[in-house]
Amino acid sequence: MLMFSRITVFLILLFFCLDSNAQQILPYTITKKIEGTNGAVVSAHPLASKVGLNILKAGGNAVDAAIGTQLALAVVYPGAGNLGGGGFMIACLKNGKTVALDYREMAPSNATKDMYLDKNGNPITQLSLEGPMASGIPGTVAGLFASKKYAKLSFKKLISPAIQLAEEGFPITASQAQSFNNNKSDFERMNKTVVAFVKNTPWKEGDMLIQPELAKTLKRILRKKARGFYEGPIAKLIVQEMNRGKGIINLTDLKNYKAIERTAIRYNYKDYEIVGMPMPSSGGIIIQQLMKIIEQRNIADMGFQTAASVQLMTEAERRAFADRGTYMGDADFVKVPVKTLVSESYLQQRMNDFKPGVAGNSKITKEGIISESEETTHISIVDNEGNAVSVTTTLNGNYGSYTVVSGAGFLLNNEMDDFSVKPGSPNMYGAVGKAANAIAPGKRMLSSMSPTIVLKNNKPYIVVGTPGGTTIPTSVFQSLVNILEFNLNEEDAVNKPKFHHQWLPDELFIEKDFPTTVAAELKAMGYKLSTRTGIGRTELIRITNNNGRKVIAIADKRGDDAAEGY
Ligand code: GLY
Repeated sequence: MLMFSRITVFLILLFFCLDSNAQQILPYTITKKIEGTNGAVVSAHPLASKVGLNILKAGGNAVDAAIGTQLALAVVYPGAGNLGGGGFMIACLKNGKTVALDYREMAPSNATKDMYLDKNGNPITQLSLEGPMASGIPGTVAGLFASKKYAKLSFKKLISPAIQLAEEGFPITASQAQSFNNNKSDFERMNKTVVAFVKNTPWKEGDMLIQPELAKTLKRILRKKARGFYEGPIAKLIVQEMNRGKGIINLTDLKNYKAIERTAIRYNYKDYEIVGMPMPSSGGIIIQQLMKIIEQRNIADMGFQTAASVQLMTEAERRAFADRGTYMGDADFVKVPVKTLVSESYLQQRMNDFKPGVAGNSKITKEGIISESEETTHISIVDNEGNAVSVTTTLNGNYGSYTVVSGAGFLLNNEMDDFSVKPGSPNMYGAVGKAANAIAPGKRMLSSMSPTIVLKNNKPYIVVGTPGGTTIPTSVFQSLVNILEFNLNEEDAVNKPKFHHQWLPDELFIEKDFPTTVAAELKAMGYKLSTRTGIGRTELIRITNNNGRKVIAIADKRGDDAAEGY
């Protein structure tokens, strides 16, 4: 493995060819904010954002850029970018069409409700978190090809940068070096062969990560399209990997996997229209509940991050997550009472016992009465044609199941943990679920991913999303309220400290830079506060048209996330 010092990372000049257009993507720097007039891409890694930008500049639209950026992330951001995971895409196209694409992982045909329980009925959480048994059938590759019909460029143009990044390598960032070192023993434990993320001496910023097996897989996908992943040698390698552990994905499961176009959630919030993801993501409905609860309550007058506004938002979050735990699951399998959950009368009744200045209590607040590591990754993109794309994809935990498909070089997800393994038992995010999210063959596990687009005068205005497990809907909610109600600028809307309540545990989580005086006031109201590391890594783009078109793209301060635009 070649080594480079910190300084040389930024001095190396390599030229990557994007088909016939030579595109320079190294050296790279991490840009947190850009302002342009055309298009922008924000993602979790500067190289992936640059790949997306180059695609826009080469005449691709926002969907082209979303495909290329996701493929690049599968190479340069292995903790969450993926081929072996799944995701959701919301797109608002220039012709007015709204696309909600579900390429969430799916439970294998041999999955059973109790597959992660021991003989006494207790959850064996390790099984749904690590190794081949934790994996759902991957959806990402099917999703990329399902979105291709809205793209313009050849697939070769979109995948070439990813192939080159995998084949020739790229210098890793400091946080990636730290992450590979921290997870070394897990990679070694969960794999029989040496994987690309493990080496004998500790990783340092600037070391080159080269992934020849992944490059081979990408080339096969280029030649054979989605079938190149779901059938043939790669599918066989996935099944071989299953057989090395207790995995149950078989060749038929892979062959039968399909991405599904669903009907996006659309609703008005004051003068705006918000477009979000429906089931099997809970994110769209949770955000709709949260926005609708605050809509008539003059939150702007309470002020940004005052104890009053934080308490109102917290109590809305408590109630939305209580509903998530009970009512939400894959709507192809269970009846989710969507209409009621977002109806005005129901939401009003949910807030009947809200007392300003007094903390609620999750023992008293249950789900409403009705006769549903956070290492995910988000991409926000707009182009200069009027298209906007919001994509969130995931392996679930950081590096998913830690299992790399030997010979194919990509990580498999541990998304099965997003099912309710046992009613009332918390998953890795501490979220509890019930029968609606129980495991069943072919069912898609409930997600919190919330790719969101806000329209103003029927045109894309804000494109937003984030990783963060159950904190995803609350981070998106707070970023939106920060702009739409508190008039914060885009940077502050993303970077100011966030807070999170998810019903259970009955705690209000705050980031460490959350204002101490407000925290003290909330404590005095009766909240149990817990400080935690970063809530979300929000990627946000706002398009304004006040004095000519302006595209403002913000990458969250909380990671290596980077914005590119022109
Ligand atoms: N795996 C995180 C989510 O889908 O919400």
